[in-house]
Amino acid sequence: MNPSRRNFLKKSAIAASAISSLSVVPENVWSSEFAPSDKVNVALIGCRNMGFGILRHHLDTGMVNCLALCDVDKNILNERAQTVKNDYGQESQLYSDYRKLLERIDIDAVIIGTPDHWHCLIMVEAAQAGKDVYVEKPMANTIGECNIMVKAAKRYNRVVQVGQQQRDNKVFKDVMGLIKSGEIGTLRKVNIWANFNYGLGSTPKPDSPVPEGVDYDFWLGPAPKRPFNENRFHGSWRHFWDYGGGLMSDWGVHLLDMGIWAKDLTEGPETVITYAENLSRKTMHRDSFDTMNVIFPKKDYVINWDMTAGIQQGPFDSSYGVQFIGEKATIVADRYKYHLSPEWDGAKDAPKAEEVSYTKGHESHRQHVDNFLECIKTREKTSCPPEVGRAAALHAHIPNIAARVGQPVLEWDDEQSRFTNCEKANELITPEYRKPWKLPEV
Ligand SMILES: NC(=O)c1ccc[n+]([C@@H]2O[C@H](COP(=O)([O-])OP(=O)(O)OC[C@H]3O[C@@H](n4cnc5c(N)ncnc54)[C@H](O)[C@@H]3O)[C@@H](O)[C@H]2O)c1
Repeated sequence: MNPSRRNFLKKSAIAASAISSLSVVPENVWSSEFAPSDKVNVALIGCRNMGFGILRHHLDTGMVNCLALCDVDKNILNERAQTVKNDYGQESQLYSDYRKLLERIDIDAVIIGTPDHWHCLIMVEAAQAGKDVYVEKPMANTIGECNIMVKAAKRYNRVVQVGQQQRDNKVFKDVMGLIKSGEIGTLRKVNIWANFNYGLGSTPKPDSPVPEGVDYDFWLGPAPKRPFNENRFHGSWRHFWDYGGGLMSDWGVHLLDMGIWAKDLTEGPETVITYAENLSRKTMHRDSFDTMNVIFPKKDYVINWDMTAGIQQGPFDSSYGVQFIGEKATIVADRYKYHLSPEWDGAKDAPKAEEVSYTKGHESHRQHVDNFLECIKTREKTSCPPEVGRAAALHAHIPNIAARVGQPVLEWDDEQSRFTNCEKANELITPEYRKPWKLPEV
């Protein structure tokens, strides 16, 4: 890093800590000081699974220093630190409290790989401290928190990438190109399916002592206090409303995002029609529903969501996918391939579009990280900015809310961020944080 930038960073970090107390917002805190050749100093908060994968993609670029790692499970923290040292030759400072890490003025960006119930608080505090943020999807566990995060990114002028990596996936980028250039004609429907065994949750286990090295109270953070249960902890927390939204939000934000990207929508849905049930006979430990069908009527097309947890087979021999139905052709896509099947033009005795097949796609976390790092330097908007993360999250959270309050049709006023036909649903927009944690105000 060049010395002038280092000085500038110090100044901006001091400015940033003043920002959090005074709420003064700087314009482009250090944009002009970032040379393309500068390494970006990052820190990872939440190290076990996806967060660490995303950190690896950062380090693989060769353009990143990992200055710090933070986790409330010391076992994970030490193991990951050793891996960073072995695989990348970098020594990171270790933290169990992210607030201490955020005090460091030499950290440019943080990666948030915690469970969903922590995303909002850590993202907002990181933004207030002048850090850019890569926050895993879903952007937050509730609609209210998503709203706060959109405001925070704007107010503190931060580059934020939400971890919906399909926005940088070659297959889906090409598919969007075909749709937007009119190749499939007027888009009428987007059918999405997601069938995964893991969505059923885990077999029931009794509560147990907190494992050695884990600060469980910190892991719970703003979520309600509960006895420790392995099923509600590492990895499987996603099936419980306090921390996640089940398969509906876990895969929903990725796939529904494709439905809204097709028309570049960045708002929540107006009307949501939800069927949700538990149809599996297996006794499993979870809050979320195993079977959900949701209709999102849009102005000039419709998105259909079809989800079955405990089943791994799906249409076109794929457990998940997206079918874009246009008047000239239909495209079926997943992360690795797509196929465009044309409609037949009887009058011309010819296909209405050219048949195309592509089978060389791959996971796109690395491309999503590349985009984040580039935007840190250019101060451009990322490929998945907070308003997109919010829109996708709302398409997943609203059906879950409908299911939880037992109201199949919900009407949503996106500007007011309120349901207009169900007060019980409005009660689930914003979570009540457990003290001493406070819902951030921006
Ligand atoms: N983009 C994708 O394709 C994708 C895939 C999987 C998971 N994810 C997302 O990544 C996030 C993490 O999921 P996961 O499967 O890695 O979960 P995980 O349970 O495996 O890991 C979460 C880690 O965060 C730590 N943690 C919890 N609270 C913390 C806190 N306050 N401070 C520091 N560390 C804390 C835990 O101890 C754990 O090590 C979730 O939001 C999930 O939805 C995204």
